[in-house]
Amino acid sequence: MRKLGLAMMVIFVLSILGACNSNEEASAPADKEKNEPAKEEVVDQELLDAKAKFEPLGEMPVPADNPMTDEKVELGKTLYFDPRLSGNNVQSCMSCHAPGAGYGDGMSTFIGFEGHQGGRNSPTIINSGYYPTNFWDGRAGSLEEQALGPIQSEVEMNQNLDELVIELNGVPTYVEQFNTVFNDQISADNIAKAIAAFERTIVISDTAFDRYLQGEEDAISADAKEGMKLFVGKAGCISCHAGPLLSDYSYHNLGMSGDEGRFDVTGNEEDKGKFRTSGLRGVAHTAPFMHDGSLETLKDVVMYYNAGGGDHANKSVLVSPLNLTDKEIDNLVAFLESMSGELQMIDAPEIPSN
Ligand code: HEC
Ligand code: HEC
Repeated sequence: MRKLGLAMMVIFVLSILGACNSNEEASAPADKEKNEPAKEEVVDQELLDAKAKFEPLGEMPVPADNPMTDEKVELGKTLYFDPRLSGNNVQSCMSCHAPGAGYGDGMSTFIGFEGHQGGRNSPTIINSGYYPTNFWDGRAGSLEEQALGPIQSEVEMNQNLDELVIELNGVPTYVEQFNTVFNDQISADNIAKAIAAFERTIVISDTAFDRYLQGEEDAISADAKEGMKLFVGKAGCISCHAGPLLSDYSYHNLGMSGDEGRFDVTGNEEDKGKFRTSGLRGVAHTAPFMHDGSLETLKDVVMYYNAGGGDHANKSVLVSPLNLTDKEIDNLVAFLESMSGELQMIDAPEIPSN
């Protein structure tokens, strides 16, 4: 009843304002300006309901055994940029997760140790600390666990951890820094902790979409608002892209073949071709998309879903043709862009010499 009353009042007020407007068209621009905000008050219940389904990103979770300190983050950042972490001192983490490329590498799939052509896309590290598992298939349980993976991987950095510790011990600045930060020696464990702490500072949370959730009505465009309604409604994206990170932290098969995905981790048939649902804040900065980098633009992604995904025996029942119009596809893209925020740029640190 109260809603109906309010709606009627808005219509009433609008009709009066409308009447004033037509009478005073040319003569009173000041009045016209005053009238403008009233137009916004038309209640779009579908939009309000859609908006209520989203939540802010919240604080970055930090493991109890790896608290954040400025010195640790600085050390982690230096290690992230240091090619000493690879066996031939050529590639650093930054080579495949570069700030200017949205903390990915802008390529479909990575190029690793001595030109090795990788099978998966280098994902962004933006907001990667929010996931309870890392990698496309979730095989690492934390950023600390993740960091030692690429260093040792023969096809990525191909570095032996014991050798790395010896190498870093030859750099006086590092010896001093590890001592200050951890009150401890250089070790694989401490290297991973420092890098993970740095990665937890690479966050996109304050997007136009977030400001809209907080009540700034004009933060996103009318198209993006239509896209938001589709995201929770007709297009069904929210079945998987839900919660604070816009990921259910679960694994799904969208119909892409050629990679066993989660199956490699669990060995369960039902996990074949499943990948972790990607968070979406910052997404416009991280093309190309998906675990194989096969989709170039956000429009390609939406069109892929619109066609009902790909063809795979294990495809999720949540992925089927959406029958979106061209305009609806564009509105969904506008919504994805509204949650993309600004890329956090950082200055490359000075790499200490031996
Ligand atoms: C040769 C390219 C390459 C290098 C070098 C590299 N990575 Fe990656 N990174 C990848 C690829 C490819 C994946 C995805 C692999 C997968 O999921 O199987 C990945 C995944 C990740 C993830 C997981 C993100 C998520 O969404 O869960 C993080 C974090 C990450 N890398 C950080 C690092 C760090 C830290 C280093 C340096 C120690 C590093 N990477 C070095 C290519 C690279
Ligand atoms: C069945 C669950 C599911 C549904 C429904 C779904 N997604 Fe996804 N989405 C995923 C998974 C899983 C991935 C990662 C897949 C991969 O890499 O192979 C993903 C990836 C993406 C990506 C790429 C992210 C990146 O960084 O590469 C975008 C963008 C995206 N989804 C948007 C949408 C939109 C828009 C909709 C609605 C039209 C939608 N999704 C519906 C599960 C889903």
